[in-house]
Amino acid sequence: MSNNSKKLFLETYGCQMNVADSEVVASIMEHDGFTIIKTREEADVILVNTCSIRENAETRIRGRVQGFSELKKKNPKLLIGVIGCMAERLGEKLFDQEKNVNIIVGPDAYMDLPLLVKKAENGEKAINVELSLTETYKDICPSRIDETSISGFVSITRGCNNFCTYCIVPYTRGRERSRNPESILQEVNDLSEKGYKEVTLLGQNVNSFVFKNSISEVSFPELLEMVAISVPNMRIRFATSHPKDMSDDTLRVIAKNDNICNFIHLPVQSGSDSVLKDMRRKYTQEWYKNRIEAIHKIIPGCGISSDIFCGFHNESEEDFNQTIELMKWAKFDLAYMFKYSERPGTFAYKNLADNVPEDVKQRRLEEMIVLQNQISLENNQGDIGKVFEVLIEGISKRSEQDVYGRTSQNKVIVFPKKEYKIGDLANVIVKTCTKATLVGEAV
Ligand code: 5AD
Ligand code: SF4
Repeated sequence: MSNNSKKLFLETYGCQMNVADSEVVASIMEHDGFTIIKTREEADVILVNTCSIRENAETRIRGRVQGFSELKKKNPKLLIGVIGCMAERLGEKLFDQEKNVNIIVGPDAYMDLPLLVKKAENGEKAINVELSLTETYKDICPSRIDETSISGFVSITRGCNNFCTYCIVPYTRGRERSRNPESILQEVNDLSEKGYKEVTLLGQNVNSFVFKNSISEVSFPELLEMVAISVPNMRIRFATSHPKDMSDDTLRVIAKNDNICNFIHLPVQSGSDSVLKDMRRKYTQEWYKNRIEAIHKIIPGCGISSDIFCGFHNESEEDFNQTIELMKWAKFDLAYMFKYSERPGTFAYKNLADNVPEDVKQRRLEEMIVLQNQISLENNQGDIGKVFEVLIEGISKRSEQDVYGRTSQNKVIVFPKKEYKIGDLANVIVKTCTKATLVGEAV
């Protein structure tokens, strides 16, 4: 790499899809002659890949972008780009709202980034927030930014067609498209050749993956099995699954293929049928429970996590209690819990009043967290004495003598390093635990 090539610093917020997108962006920019650097002080261009899912995500990112004023003072030529969901949601307005912003690019317009950076260098307005019905970046081989990593992401669908009433994603990421299985397999194999030991297939709703051409059609379970067979030495994960599309076929593929991890992230959002209806989730509590039962039956010992949020439109104490009851019944290993945050532009913003008071939302959130912490702890205690195959991901932050990794069920486990290296598989017996971590010993 030449010393005078321009330097790009990439900062990523939000979901795993954004992490994967940043690698696509890195690849596009490297092809244009940029070098990706790890210190923002030396950058010619900073791109911030953003998230709009809740208001507090956006507030945090705005603070970050405003903080770049210092760097701009030192280097007046520094260009700042906001890319991803916030760029898409706010468009032109961002130029007025955030003085530091020079470039605005939505999730489907990354191919245009080199051109837009050149425009910005010439002092022109540089914006592209066009959404696409077809863009999947299938011809881009993502640059793996964290070269020491052993676990990578590959996106298999982009966008979302579900239009849950509270959610901004269909507006910021556009319509759902599935990527050509050939390019998915190529990317997975590329990860394998680079020494990666694990891949997570990503999409807003992976179960609805379907790729059609004139001769054949590939469904999600078929794709999952194709991936598992093509890289037998890699662990396969996937996220996120929508309960309405979680099929027994997919569960059977997981059960049949040893290298597909026994772990499913299945966001329930609420336990109340009337709230689920207002959310337009297209399933009932009963349907969701049936899916959980199917998971336990077809994949015994499968880890399950969920997303849940409280305080949506009209959520009564009775509705909330049904969420609590569902959590007690489902006993998730892990749950991501939130308060409803109204997002401008969504159906709920226009039609369903944000009418649960903030203090009630807060109290309900705290109640969910206390309960889930207890359940996570009990689930982990249930693992004591069991042996799990663990993929070692790194050295423990607490002690250099210890490594950490994940079980197939996605639980983090810490144990003495001995002769093991990062990327090795080890059989580990669980000795103790906290609510977040198992602690064990290799056997
Ligand atoms: N407010 C709060 N939480 C939300 N989520 C999505 N939209 C909102 C919102 N407007 C949560 C859902 C989703 C996760 C990624 O974020 O639980 O599954
Ligand atoms: Fe949002 Fe619903 Fe699509 Fe998930 S499935 S991204 S919650 S609209």
